[in-house]
Amino acid sequence: MKVSIVGGGGLVGSSAAYSLQCSGKVSQICLIDANHEAAQGHAYEMLNASSLTSDIRVFAGSMADIADTDIVVITAGLRRKPDESRLDLIHRNVDLFLSLLSEVTKAGLRKSAYLIVVSNPVDVLTYLAVQRSGLPWQRVLGLGTQLDTARFRGNLGQLLNVPPSQVHALILGEHGDSMVPIWSSASINGLPLTQWPGYTPALGAKAFEDTKTAGATLIKLKGGSSMAVGHSIREVVESIADDSRRILPVSTLQLGLYGVRDVCLSVPTIVGCGGCRQQIQLNLLPKEQQGLQQSARVLREIIDQVESRIGRVRADTGIVPEANLRPRGNAVPTPIQRSIPRSAWGK
Ligand SMILES: NC(=O)c1ccc[n+]([C@@H]2O[C@H](COP(=O)([O-])OP(=O)(O)OC[C@H]3O[C@@H](n4cnc5c(N)ncnc54)[C@H](O)[C@@H]3O)[C@@H](O)[C@H]2O)c1
Repeated sequence: MKVSIVGGGGLVGSSAAYSLQCSGKVSQICLIDANHEAAQGHAYEMLNASSLTSDIRVFAGSMADIADTDIVVITAGLRRKPDESRLDLIHRNVDLFLSLLSEVTKAGLRKSAYLIVVSNPVDVLTYLAVQRSGLPWQRVLGLGTQLDTARFRGNLGQLLNVPPSQVHALILGEHGDSMVPIWSSASINGLPLTQWPGYTPALGAKAFEDTKTAGATLIKLKGGSSMAVGHSIREVVESIADDSRRILPVSTLQLGLYGVRDVCLSVPTIVGCGGCRQQIQLNLLPKEQQGLQQSARVLREIIDQVESRIGRVRADTGIVPEANLRPRGNAVPTPIQRSIPRSAWGK
């Protein structure tokens, strides 16, 4: 399997490449970057490491490499200028993303390829990619709250003095300020987290606050996130490559589960061959469900602002009529599993 990373010369892209090299699950990694020398430098250093990691072929390439790529990961992004507003940065990143997406599709992106969006604002860019990439929506995944979830598990593990791998706690919704901690299913290896000795609501609140501010903390301390985001990307790539069907909080087009539609955000998603194989709806606490709906409102507002500038494009996503998806009356929605028709899977 060939993975091309657009932005592979940067902090996030090169870290993802290195994580993939260490895991050895794909066969080729192509680093594409406007700064070709940086991409060459990372590829060269990974060659230096190859006898100690894996035999994956890593090289610096160009958009021409997209034509035979199985998984395209987009990590290219721009950083905030001094005094620049959040919205201005969003507009600049949208413009960069759309021009890259157009280059990627013109380079011959296969219909059977997968697109993993990492650049921020990730949920908005994932939505634009669903509408404009020409790929089935199931094959377009945003990294979403995958990294936030990893951070949350690490923070809880440290505060509770338990191994982070034993902590199971999801962050869903927007990869941004409105992200939602899911306490109702949080556990220490299956045991309710909120009953764990030493757990207090204040401890939980600190773990969540540290999760929300982790990105800003890392920018201040070392320029930005690299290792954790690299591993987070690797987990999504591997789940597709191995068809391992891990349940990951990636960002996908929402079709009505949790009362959310026509935005991309993170819900528990089975990721494997075909990309998003299933989005899972569970009975959340009312405040968790409301949190997801708030994330959707925040994202819809940004998408509306973006689309009022760049215009609207709607892909045919084969969406089921709204009436079939809405919960009736005030009832708590019953668990629904949205499965993807077998014909949409492919290899
Ligand atoms: N979704 C997440 O969880 C998450 C986490 C961390 C960072 N990010 C985002 O990832 C993006 C990259 O962050 P970073 O720290 O690696 O930044 P970076 O500046 O280190 O790397 C960005 C790379 O993009 C390249 N680039 C810019 N324009 C390009 C173009 N037209 N064609 C090809 N390459 C181009 C740059 O040369 C640079 O190497 C940002 O948008 C950041 O916000 C997302």
